[in-house]
Amino acid sequence: APDIPLANVKAQLTQFQSIANANGGNRAHGRPGYLASVNYLRSQLDAVGYTTTVQSFTYAGATGYNLLAEWPVGDPDAVVLTGAHLDSVTSGPGINDNGSGSAAILEVALAVPSSGFTPDKRLRFAWWGAEELGLRGSRHYVNNLSGAERDRIKQYLNFDMVGSPNAGYFVYDGDDSDGVGAGPGPEGSAEIEQTIEAYYTSIGVTTQGTDFNGRSDYGPFIAVGIPAGGTFTGAEGIKSSAQAALWGGTAGQAFDSCYHRSCDTIANVNDTALDRNADAIAYTVWELAQTSPPGDT
Ligand code: PHE
Ligand code: CA
Ligand code: ZN
Ligand code: ZN
Ligand code: ZN
Repeated sequence: APDIPLANVKAQLTQFQSIANANGGNRAHGRPGYLASVNYLRSQLDAVGYTTTVQSFTYAGATGYNLLAEWPVGDPDAVVLTGAHLDSVTSGPGINDNGSGSAAILEVALAVPSSGFTPDKRLRFAWWGAEELGLRGSRHYVNNLSGAERDRIKQYLNFDMVGSPNAGYFVYDGDDSDGVGAGPGPEGSAEIEQTIEAYYTSIGVTTQGTDFNGRSDYGPFIAVGIPAGGTFTGAEGIKSSAQAALWGGTAGQAFDSCYHRSCDTIANVNDTALDRNADAIAYTVWELAQTSPPGDT
């Protein structure tokens, strides 16, 4: 898998900040900064050969948009879907939440053609609208899949807040082996969790499990039995002294003290966490996109 350049991901975040600055300070559902964010991403994906579609929906009297991008190579009946919510809250530009996940998966998507990778499975990427209002965009997408389309989606990977300034290294606990969360996810979620953990082990970073209870856009997917997984660097939760010993940062303070605030700006990002997560996403997408060679167990 490619090493995703941190500078590329940061450049995308700078653009999200500029879009917010030009549109009343946010990129929220129903506000002009949201659609500007969609159009900005779509043009980059179109330019390298993705097949893009924008799915509209209505929520709270405003039109919302999901952006979908498919790489037209690989088995169309075995889709690996990777997503992040692109909307912010109204109070700020939403750079860690969730410019970080949006920019990281964008750079992974752009690395598919630039690396010459030919996946066995079909790669699809999604940027969801109106997550902050209750997972509205991802739920709209899942609810509007036909049975056949749903069955084609073999795995869903979700990235929401992957550059928290006082970062933790959390992996959704899809196998419930850490005993946190609401129990194990759909069968197949454990494989995703283990693939992500293999990447972190390879770089010598210890991860911890985090709730797999539906507090982000993977919720609608696991609700219909699609295996899912992802990473998270923490929101309003407080870093323990044990976690600070493991990962650095400041014990007794929130992972992201600017969570859902106006200070969630381009200054509110931990570069090391963002870089590690972007590379972990690339590794996981590359691994899951390849069918196992015959005889491989
Ligand atoms: N979905 C939450 C938000 O956007 C953030 C979050 C992600 C919380 C993952 C917990 C786990 O505000
Ligand atoms: Ca990198
Ligand atoms: Zn979020
Ligand atoms: Zn949020
Ligand atoms: Zn686990």
